[in-house]
Amino acid sequence: MYKEFAYIYDKLTFDIDYEKYSKVIKNELNKLNISPRSILELGIGSGNMTKYFYNTGIYYKGIDLSEEMLEICSKKFPSIDLSKQDLCNLKVDENFDFVFSTLDTINYILDSRKLQSLFYTIKEHCKEVFIFDVNTPYKLIDFMGNNHFVYEYEDIFYTWVNQYYEKENLVDFYIDFFVKTEDNLYRRIRERQTEKVYTLDTIRFMLYNSGFTNIKIIDFDTGKLLTDKTQRALFICTI
Ligand SMILES: C[S@@+](CC[C@H](N)C(=O)[O-])C[C@H]1O[C@@H](n2cnc3c(N)ncnc32)[C@H](O)[C@@H]1O
Repeated sequence: MYKEFAYIYDKLTFDIDYEKYSKVIKNELNKLNISPRSILELGIGSGNMTKYFYNTGIYYKGIDLSEEMLEICSKKFPSIDLSKQDLCNLKVDENFDFVFSTLDTINYILDSRKLQSLFYTIKEHCKEVFIFDVNTPYKLIDFMGNNHFVYEYEDIFYTWVNQYYEKENLVDFYIDFFVKTEDNLYRRIRERQTEKVYTLDTIRFMLYNSGFTNIKIIDFDTGKLLTDKTQRALFICTI
């Protein structure tokens, strides 16, 4: 996952409005009167969200499992402390004012016991606020699950074939990229990803279990109240 694909990820996020999402998060931080001096970003990827939160005056640490994503990120942000780790066994020594994770990284944790243990670890190391988003069951089951999508963007033609497994509550994405080469041929890159469908109540319960008692959930796309068509839910958990 996120190996060869890492190099085209940046290009394919052309339709993701990171600036809008960062404003929703900053708005929540402002409401809480929090100006973090230390930040931990989980599933930092190629650093697309990072640029809205990083500045040289703070301690910034980023974690990701993909070496390729981290390599791209380190070129953009050479002074960030990057660490290749699986969030399922997260180990950090420091404490952070603000811990966050965006673009459904949490849905990639397929074992709910591992997610529970991740929340425990975050609670231990988070001093002020933990903010993250998840793809909702509505998005993963009704919108994406068992669906096919075909896109073309610049020199990349790609298809998504999705499969929802009800018993396991998992969605598999089979993505085929055809990337135009210099000799006008197309190179095929295959990517398979799996996301877990978590209900918002399940996540809220796990957060409570780990000691987060002050939890707010909003629609990440609008920054407003959740609706039954919310695709990305944003959790704001204060200490
Ligand atoms: C959809 S990308 C989001 C990247 C970035 N947060 C963004 O907003 O563009 C999901 C990221 O989570 C990382 N990831 C998935 N499972 C992981 C795990 N178990 N441990 C650490 N990172 C993981 C992937 O490598 C990928 O970089």
